[in-house]
Amino acid sequence: MSIILEVQNLSKTYTVNKHQNHVLRGVDFTVSEGEMVAVMGPSGSGKSTLLYAVSGMDSFQSGDVRFCGKSITGLSQKDLAQLRLEEMGFIFQQMYMLKNLTVLDNILLPARQAGKLPKKEILARGQALMEKLGIADIADSDITAVSGGQLQRACICRSLINQPKMLFADEPTGALNRAASDEVMEELTKLNREGATLMLVTHDPKVAAKCTKILYLVDGSIKGEHHPTPDASPRNREQALNDWLLEMGW
Ligand SMILES: Nc1ncnc2c1ncn2[C@@H]1O[C@H](COP(=O)(O)OP(=O)(O)OP(=O)(O)O)[C@@H](O)[C@H]1O
Ligand SMILES: [Mg+2]
Repeated sequence: MSIILEVQNLSKTYTVNKHQNHVLRGVDFTVSEGEMVAVMGPSGSGKSTLLYAVSGMDSFQSGDVRFCGKSITGLSQKDLAQLRLEEMGFIFQQMYMLKNLTVLDNILLPARQAGKLPKKEILARGQALMEKLGIADIADSDITAVSGGQLQRACICRSLINQPKMLFADEPTGALNRAASDEVMEELTKLNREGATLMLVTHDPKVAAKCTKILYLVDGSIKGEHHPTPDASPRNREQALNDWLLEMGW
């Protein structure tokens, strides 16, 4: 499998009131095509910062990030924005959607921004994604009139509209109840089984147990890496992950 994301010796420091906070300290990892990688760790360990740095949303001081073989280190803001728009998909805990647009129009927006496809094709793609995620019936709804689970599935549609090489998600189920969280994870694991590559931050071992690899971050360093047994039952995967998390000090 080819490597999509390669992170080498990544470090990031925030300086607040002359105090230096070394948030990422020499992080190394790779994500290969078809992997679904979870990042876990205590609050404040640097999980979100890591996700934003490797996806070009945020800067970093040293190290290198290669996306599809090309270094993103040193790219201009404009080139980074284009890379994110065309090659990456994003799903957040807060479902950032525009309030004056319908659900469908929100989903289509990144494709319209990219401006690479005829209008008709963009529309067909958005409708097909909504169908696939089981939310075709809310296409014309106002985003304030749908449930959190539906909205997050709409965000998944939006993240896929430009057929990205990789999806990045920061606590995609963090704002959802158990049932909606399970539904959203079912969709993400289904996408992964179909070949999508994902990196997601989560506090939820049930979510992480569905991933192919789990990184455990402490104080900005990767303390350990866990690989669930692919053929194990969901219950056994969760049990093995919980045992490992205990070892990590979770
Ligand atoms: N914009 C910022 N300016 C200064 N410090 C920041 C900034 N963003 C994050 N930090 C600091 O970086 C550290 C890591 O934060 P980060 O949000 O990456 O943690 P996290 O692991 O995602 O935590 P959580 O599980 O609570 O979401 C924290 O000490 C935080 O205070
Ligand atoms: Mg976070």
